[in-house]
Amino acid sequence: MGLDVVITGANRGIGLGFTQEYLSRGNRVIATYRSKDSLDRLIEVHPGKFTSLQELQIKYPERLKLQPLDVTSEEDVARFATSVEKLDLLILNAGIKGYSVPGTKTKDHPPGDLRAALEVNTLAANHIWSCFFPLISKTPNAGVIFMGSLVGLPKDNASGNYHPYRVSKTASHHMMWNLFIHLTQEWRQQTVEALKEDPSLCSLKERVRTILPDSSDLDQSLEIIERALMATPLMPQLKHPPLGASQTAAFKEWLDSVFPDVPLKTPLSEKILKNLIQHPWSPKTTGREWILEVLEKTCLIDALREPIEKALTSPSSIETLYKRHFEASRQDLAELQKAGPIREPILKEDVEEWVKSSVSQISFLSEELKDRLIEVMKDSPCLRELREKMMRILSESPFAAAVCAGWVRTDMGGPHARLSIEMSTGYMADVIEILRKTKQANGLLMYDGTMAEKYPASTELEEIFYAIKHRSTPSSQPSESSSSSCTSSST
Ligand SMILES: NC(=O)c1ccc[n+]([C@@H]2O[C@H](COP(=O)([O-])OP(=O)(O)OC[C@H]3O[C@@H](n4cnc5c(N)ncnc54)[C@H](OP(=O)(O)O)[C@@H]3O)[C@@H](O)[C@H]2O)c1
Repeated sequence: MGLDVVITGANRGIGLGFTQEYLSRGNRVIATYRSKDSLDRLIEVHPGKFTSLQELQIKYPERLKLQPLDVTSEEDVARFATSVEKLDLLILNAGIKGYSVPGTKTKDHPPGDLRAALEVNTLAANHIWSCFFPLISKTPNAGVIFMGSLVGLPKDNASGNYHPYRVSKTASHHMMWNLFIHLTQEWRQQTVEALKEDPSLCSLKERVRTILPDSSDLDQSLEIIERALMATPLMPQLKHPPLGASQTAAFKEWLDSVFPDVPLKTPLSEKILKNLIQHPWSPKTTGREWILEVLEKTCLIDALREPIEKALTSPSSIETLYKRHFEASRQDLAELQKAGPIREPILKEDVEEWVKSSVSQISFLSEELKDRLIEVMKDSPCLRELREKMMRILSESPFAAAVCAGWVRTDMGGPHARLSIEMSTGYMADVIEILRKTKQANGLLMYDGTMAEKYPASTELEEIFYAIKHRSTPSSQPSESSSSSCTSSST
């Protein structure tokens, strides 16, 4: 089938790389470019090999559409959004550095630089997703991806440099987090609405009606029960490990083996890990150069620096790390990609817990009646079925994420960057594919699936993570929750 993907700033750099990557994977792409001049530029992708959006269009005439779009033009963006009928992925890639001299002190940046960076990297991105929000919020598994940056993480900032870029990217990371929360809340609301007339809920109401006392307010009582049921958290707790967990575990194991005598505290080892991952070892650099650079970034005190430097610069230990890290990373990605919907039976205890907390919220019922209600409802197949349906719909929630490309050899990244465009976009497309399944975007994700910064998840989000883990397919419904058992038990 393929996905419908919109990519902004797609005429060069990472945007062009994404366009190539998504087309080669069989998707349909609308690639936007700022102006005719931008479109006409040929880009060197490998030494001596050039490409452009126009060349890609000749190769993929059916699946690539080129769209002029200056992302700062609000009218053009709004007009463009109304012309798009189907959208699975919106990649907010267009961006500028906003500074010309990297080491410029904060106060020395002309105010216009910050305004320009905010305009492209934050305000335009915000306006674009806002225009697409009605479409995205109703499309199962749709995603908005913003090209985030480590430079936008306050904890990564030891120099205060890159002021306009840093400020605009930090704001946009938060913007994506807000959007993610908003999308999940909206989706939950839609899920509840969609199930209002569901036969399982109707049958359950009938069943509950039989034990409620006669009352002129019966309908209202049922309405309250329905709302209590729908508003109750669906999951007991989140159990599955986060994305990137096995890479981190592989690194920790390696670190312990090379530093048996060095008292490395967890935050420090995490810092070294992060810096090693963010600076992948390029075959052009010697292991020693690479490690020294990483240690430089990690700002270690001298007493620790010497033994660490000694252990880290041993070629065999570097090779082991590199192999383990990337093997674990590849393995994680491959396993998640292979995984179809994961079928796990809904636990009896979970259903009981759900019923108890729902019923206890109904203040006008006596304790005795509450106990009877819990007894009747907890074994009801309708309740299980209803819960299964809610979880299935929830697991298809749209999402938003900030993903960092790593340090990439583009006009922006410069010629000394560690990653080729191909490698970065190839990894990122894998990570985005996994995000469509797991929705675990509560943080700044690196191109290789590790989390550079993790935010605590809201209840709505955790429900979605849980629903994904416990998701079922309609064809694999367990017999005890089939529609027929639901109908018969409700009468
Ligand atoms: N390279 C890295 O190491 C790195 C690392 C982390 C994050 N990122 C992020 O990744 C994204 C792409 O970076 P890159 O390295 O590919 O940068 P790049 O080579 O400088 O390309 C930037 C792209 O954004 C477009 N753009 C800028 N302003 C625009 C506007 N007003 N309207 C439409 N398009 C506009 C440019 O179009 P024109 O050709 O018309 O100028 C160009 O296509 C950026 O958001 C960047 O911050 C990059």
